[in-house]
Amino acid sequence: MAKKKKKIVLGIETTCDETGLAIVEKEIDSRPKLINNLVYSQEEIHKKTKGVVPEVAAREQAAKIFPLLDKLNQEYNLDNIDAIAVAKGPGLVGSLLVGINLAKTLSYLTGKPLIGVNHVVAHLYGSLIETDKELEFPATGLIVSGGHTMLVRLKSHTKIELLGQSRDDAAGESFDKVAILLGLGYPGGPEIEKIAQKPPKTDKIELPRPLINDKSYDFSFSGLKTAVLDKTKEKKLSKKETSYLAYEFQEAVADVVSSKLQKAVLNNKTKTILTGGGVLANQRLREKIESKNLPNLIMPKREFSTDNGAIIATRGSYLLEENALSSWQKLEVCPNLSV
Ligand code: KG4
Ligand code: ZN
Repeated sequence: MAKKKKKIVLGIETTCDETGLAIVEKEIDSRPKLINNLVYSQEEIHKKTKGVVPEVAAREQAAKIFPLLDKLNQEYNLDNIDAIAVAKGPGLVGSLLVGINLAKTLSYLTGKPLIGVNHVVAHLYGSLIETDKELEFPATGLIVSGGHTMLVRLKSHTKIELLGQSRDDAAGESFDKVAILLGLGYPGGPEIEKIAQKPPKTDKIELPRPLINDKSYDFSFSGLKTAVLDKTKEKKLSKKETSYLAYEFQEAVADVVSSKLQKAVLNNKTKTILTGGGVLANQRLREKIESKNLPNLIMPKREFSTDNGAIIATRGSYLLEENALSSWQKLEVCPNLSV
């Protein structure tokens, strides 16, 4: 039998405050293999402002992308790539422009095809990196990131429908905002997880589980944030009480997200469940999702749940097989891109 040709995809991620470049190899009908994954994170810079300042993020992207490309070129000969996949949105315009323009220039110079990748959808493909599990359609997808909370239905790699999404704050955003209310640092998710402590029965705090019994697949986290704010206003919280409140907040988010995922899976024919986004780094959320015993659940390794080029290159490697290509003349940034 003739040997199948391997395709090599460069993935470029610059949607927000991470600059990511990665190389993925994929043979037709086999799993993609991650070869390189370089990420420069601006986290330290944005800690000072307890959040991302878009102009600062864009400038840092511009300053860091070429040194990162040089580093990648030293580790992996970029002459070998077959296609360039780039996150075209959603995200911050200034940050996106840096990655898109690099991708377009590389495509023009090398004549290699360009693949515009939806960053939110790409998060789901983080669960397909370094796993033995197989993706079969139809699949249900859960994205819980800093900017998005979404349930989607995947009929194929290119036929993706929205089931529901957050009506206000995304799950990650609510972690970041609640962390500020509790006097913690940025990003809020890991900070809340670090201090969260289960209270004894006598000190139990109760927060709402917004939309948990609602018929839709939508989410809403801003009321939960306000409920935390109210608790902080009732009295000055001790360190212990703050850790109890952090615990209850984390429980509330994990309860809602895991229940909605369960409902989406039970109501829609699902052969595989893909999950992704930075909030999936949260151990308690992972436990609650696992406790639902849903069939063929794939969760990303923690390093592939947050933003990186590997998720873009992995999704790009499937889109290359589907011939879902763009040209350097036509590819545009799409800051508000939906699924
Ligand atoms: O997916 P991501 O890297 O970026 C976006 O596409 O938005 O997600 C970043 C978000 C932040 O809001 C951060 O607080 C949250 O993921 N996050 C976590 C944890 N680690 C990161 N949330 C809860 N628990 C964590 N351990
Ligand atoms: Zn992301």
